[in-house]
Amino acid sequence: MASLHVFLVGFLVLSCGVIAENDLLMEESELLGLFDVMASLVDEPGWSELHPEPCTNTPWPGIECQVGQDQDPPIFHVTTIHIGPEVASPPCQPAAKISDSLLKIPYLKSLSIFNCFLTSTVVLSPTLFGALSSLEHLSLQSNPFLSGDVPSSLGILSKLRVLILSQNNLQGNIPGELGGLVNLEQLDLSYNNLSGEIPQELGRLKSLAILDLSSNDLEGVVPFGLGQLHLLQKLDFSSNRLNGKIPSQLGKLNRLVLLDLSQNSINGPLPETLSGLEHLHFSRCGLTGKIPNSLSSLNNLTALSLDNNSLKGTIPSNLGYLPNLDQLNLSHNKLTGELPFSQDFINRLGERLDVRGNNGLCTSHNISTYLQTRTCLDKQGTVDNVTCPPQQPYDLKGNNNNKNKNTSLYNGRTSSSAPSQHPPSPHLIIRALRVHPPSW
Ligand SMILES: *[C@@H]1O[C@H](CO)[C@@H](O)[C@H](O)[C@H]1NC(C)=O
Ligand SMILES: *[C@@H]1O[C@H](CO)[C@@H](O)[C@H](O)[C@H]1NC(C)=O
Ligand SMILES: *[C@@H]1O[C@H](CO)[C@@H](O)[C@H](O)[C@H]1NC(C)=O
Ligand SMILES: *[C@@H]1O[C@H](CO)[C@@H](O)[C@H](O)[C@H]1NC(C)=O
Ligand SMILES: *[C@@H]1O[C@H](CO)[C@@H](O)[C@H](O)[C@H]1NC(C)=O
Ligand SMILES: *[C@@H]1O[C@H](CO)[C@@H](O)[C@H](O)[C@H]1NC(C)=O
Ligand SMILES: *[C@@H]1O[C@H](CO)[C@@H](O)[C@H](O)[C@H]1NC(C)=O
Repeated sequence: MASLHVFLVGFLVLSCGVIAENDLLMEESELLGLFDVMASLVDEPGWSELHPEPCTNTPWPGIECQVGQDQDPPIFHVTTIHIGPEVASPPCQPAAKISDSLLKIPYLKSLSIFNCFLTSTVVLSPTLFGALSSLEHLSLQSNPFLSGDVPSSLGILSKLRVLILSQNNLQGNIPGELGGLVNLEQLDLSYNNLSGEIPQELGRLKSLAILDLSSNDLEGVVPFGLGQLHLLQKLDFSSNRLNGKIPSQLGKLNRLVLLDLSQNSINGPLPETLSGLEHLHFSRCGLTGKIPNSLSSLNNLTALSLDNNSLKGTIPSNLGYLPNLDQLNLSHNKLTGELPFSQDFINRLGERLDVRGNNGLCTSHNISTYLQTRTCLDKQGTVDNVTCPPQQPYDLKGNNNNKNKNTSLYNGRTSSSAPSQHPPSPHLIIRALRVHPPSW
């Protein structure tokens, strides 16, 4: 893409017949700065000899240039540097680092370095990025040896639209100064080792559409100020140590389509106004109580995970009427009663419906092995004490073929774990079988 871009610029200029391509120059300091930067990163000795005219005749796939607007005669400026496995293999030398000469490339709009710092520790110098005032896109990703703090000087890059520092080994707090990035549309600091609280200042990022702080070591509460991020579409704070309630202010985020607070100690109530949500994930959050009925008003919901909590009671039947729901994980809770879904719904979701690990649940549908849910025998019983037999077969006289008395049928509270102390009457078994013959 980079070379194509250069080619197009060259072609346009030539075809107009105004200036020959060779007359287009680069400023020497910028060119030397680029040589320094590349020499300190890539595993290609003599990069500068191989690419003496990186914007024109000897391009490199990770570099893009643009013709400057204001100079006469026009000259090229380096606007993009991308280092990653797609453009060079291996992309980086073992002792790769980011050279201070980056400051000599003042027109840089996009810098991305993927999978580069793999053996030798690199920290982000506070003086480096603060001066790159043209930068719109900074993405340093999947660099396990990129460590140290997120420099607060990033906060003065006022043109920044995308800041991705995910899957590195960054530590320390998230600097509140990042709140100054008023043009930022995407902030992704996921999969690092960031600690401390989420700064309230992030509520000033008025252009933000994506906020991903997942898989860090963040603590404290979700800042209520985030309710001011009116353009926010995706909020992922999963796998941290956050606690407290969901601030009601988040209910104002009416563009939100994804909310993932899984693997924290956050609990409800969920703002009921988030009617555009498509993905809602609250796995392993320590949720208690019943599944709120209000979830079934989220008409656009496609994926819902409430697995591995302590949710009790029955499953609201209207969840099964959500028209777009395609993934539902309610596994590993304390849900009870009959699975309230139609055979159509069960077929539609297939293995994307997970209700395993709820010992009190049963189903009257044609049992499918992946559901791992027992068949309800007593259709007449109320959902709270519906009969959930063990999975051993019974013969039609109601005798358990299995000699183990622990597996006897019982009809009682699902929390009871002592079926052997309350052996069922044969009468009950026979009645249950008449009402609803098992399919085995
Ligand atoms: C994460 O940071 C803490 C200090 O905040 C440190 O003790 C710990 O070793 C770090 N973990 C990793 C995997 O680097
Ligand atoms: C639900 O999705 C449809 C189609 O994408 C969209 O037009 C509608 O605005 C969404 N509803 C809400 C409440 O966001
Ligand atoms: C449920 O969460 C606990 C920790 O809260 C974890 O140890 C366990 O592996 C999880 N279970 C499943 C099935 O993911
Ligand atoms: C549901 O969540 C559990 C962890 O709680 C996970 O092991 C399982 O794979 C998930 N099921 C589906 C269908 O994604
Ligand atoms: C149950 O489902 C299986 C396979 O999905 C099918 O072969 C069988 O006939 C069904 N049984 C009943 C009673 O519907
Ligand atoms: C189910 O529970 C209700 C109230 O808890 C009780 O009145 C009813 O007798 C129970 N049914 C059976 C079959 O135990
Ligand atoms: C019955 O269940 C109890 C507790 O689950 C167990 O300790 C006991 O060994 C079981 N008895 C038999 C015969 O399996």
